[in-house]
Amino acid sequence: MVHAEPGDDKMQKMYFLTGLMGCGKTWWGQRLAERLNLPFVDLDEQIEAGEGMSIPEIFNRLGENGFRQLEREYLRQLAYTPEAVVALGGGAPCFFDNLEWMKAHGIVIYLDTPVPLIVARLAANQHNRPLLANTPVGQLSERLENLLRQREPFYRQAHITIEQTGDTDLLPLLEAAIAKFHANSKW
Ligand code: S3P
Repeated sequence: MVHAEPGDDKMQKMYFLTGLMGCGKTWWGQRLAERLNLPFVDLDEQIEAGEGMSIPEIFNRLGENGFRQLEREYLRQLAYTPEAVVALGGGAPCFFDNLEWMKAHGIVIYLDTPVPLIVARLAANQHNRPLLANTPVGQLSERLENLLRQREPFYRQAHITIEQTGDTDLLPLLEAAIAKFHANSKW
């Protein structure tokens, strides 16, 4: 297993995208991977394929604690992937020492997205997200604000924060922020 800090030559070429559900980690992760010519990995998809169950099924059968254990294990498996852009489930950096692990294995990028933008995106498909499935649409905003309050202390420790103000193209912002990061490190 590789353990390194940004600026250390041994570091894996991993970019971890974090942020609340619906902030566009998968969408922008796929595009960033294409642009950087790296493989793309969606951690939730890996868990679903490996366990043969959807994320809602895993929550139903094992509860959130069971899901978090799997999330931790599958994240650690990425130590054997030398390079990739990885989209994480929104809770991943907030449990166990996952954030510390990610920071030791790559660059953590937070997609900082206003809750109203997320609500507009999720209102139609909140039901495949167990943490929101029982929240009435009228309370989605409050639920997400609460989650964000709990999670921001973790998200804010990312190496790079990208402010998403609307449905605009984030790729140039991601590329510029990553180039700046690399200019200041030996990575
Ligand atoms: C979760 C986010 C989901 C998924 C699970 C839990 C969370 O992924 O991992 O439902 O705790 O925020 P997305 O962020 O891709 O929706």
